[in-house]
Amino acid sequence: MEGVLMNNIEWRDGTLILLDQTKLPTHVEYLQCTDWRQVAEAIKMLRVRGAPAIGVAAGYGLILAAVEANRLAVPFSEQLSTFYEWSEELKETRPTAINLAWAVNRIIAIVKAGPFASMHEIIDRITHEAIVIHEEDVQLNTRMAINGATLFKGKQNLRILTHCNAGALATGGLGTALGVIRKLHEQGQLEMVYADETRPLLQGARLTAFELHEDGIPVTLETDNMAAYAMQQGLIDAIIVGADRITTEGDVANKIGTYGLAVLAKFHNIPFYVAAPYSTFDFTLKDGKDIPIEMRADDEVLTFQGVPSAPTGIHVLNPAFDVTPHELVTAIITEEGVLTPNYQESIARLQSVVVNK
Ligand code: MRU
Repeated sequence: MEGVLMNNIEWRDGTLILLDQTKLPTHVEYLQCTDWRQVAEAIKMLRVRGAPAIGVAAGYGLILAAVEANRLAVPFSEQLSTFYEWSEELKETRPTAINLAWAVNRIIAIVKAGPFASMHEIIDRITHEAIVIHEEDVQLNTRMAINGATLFKGKQNLRILTHCNAGALATGGLGTALGVIRKLHEQGQLEMVYADETRPLLQGARLTAFELHEDGIPVTLETDNMAAYAMQQGLIDAIIVGADRITTEGDVANKIGTYGLAVLAKFHNIPFYVAAPYSTFDFTLKDGKDIPIEMRADDEVLTFQGVPSAPTGIHVLNPAFDVTPHELVTAIITEEGVLTPNYQESIARLQSVVVNK
């Protein structure tokens, strides 16, 4: 892929450059982050969003936190404890996508394992690791795309429905769900992508439709409540979505509305696929009910792109994610291969592969 999308996250000379996704598709603007708090704000406000992308951004945010801790006129041990406090703050910016905590924990574990004699040494080591996490994400996306495409061997004129944005904008590479879709397009097997608009923040309309259109991949936009109609009309051959967290039983947290799609897919006998790298699996959680669901501000529902669209003073329900029970998931596409039920077994195998790497 080329152009602006390749540069949604870039580390350049001590600055984290982020494409501000809240401005898309009308404005292509970049944020120059030189302070970890700017990175935290960007994650909270969804300027950078998508599970893998926020993990990658947090890795770079930790470099900025370490650089600032190093400037404090206190002993090394105090610099270090301040750095740990800030890393916790960064980790808590969004609760559902495990990739964020995964990236922060990965770096913090290295720092704790040490030994390091100074913050300078730590900064060098963190910089290396943040870049590795970023580069690794690019590779994971490519491998998922190849593995996912095997599910459609011999099939032509595919019409795929996707929800939210699990594309290049949500990752360091091609995307998870959109990586598979890009591969199918490259192989001449794709007829159309149906992109759910994805209320309330319109990641489908603003981001998925944008990046597919930029790439010349045919896309049809539908509002979320049109998905059932599209399935009933026989317009959809398969659904592919990304994930924010997957438990050891195969329950999948993803953008609000995903669960509804999975129920609809079951009724219409349409395969429901999830594409996610190992960093999206929470090997400590079994049951999807235990995944923390981020509740976001009322205004996101009470307004439409800043313009009031409901009476003020009413109650609002605004969970950013829902959990699709594993029974509704046909297969999970990972970089290590396609996982199928029994998920407890296939995910345990994935865990042993990644732990032994
Ligand atoms: O709130 P967002 O926009 O960060 O939610 C993103 C999603 O739900 C994506 O589907 C998920 O993170 C997978 S991205 C490869």
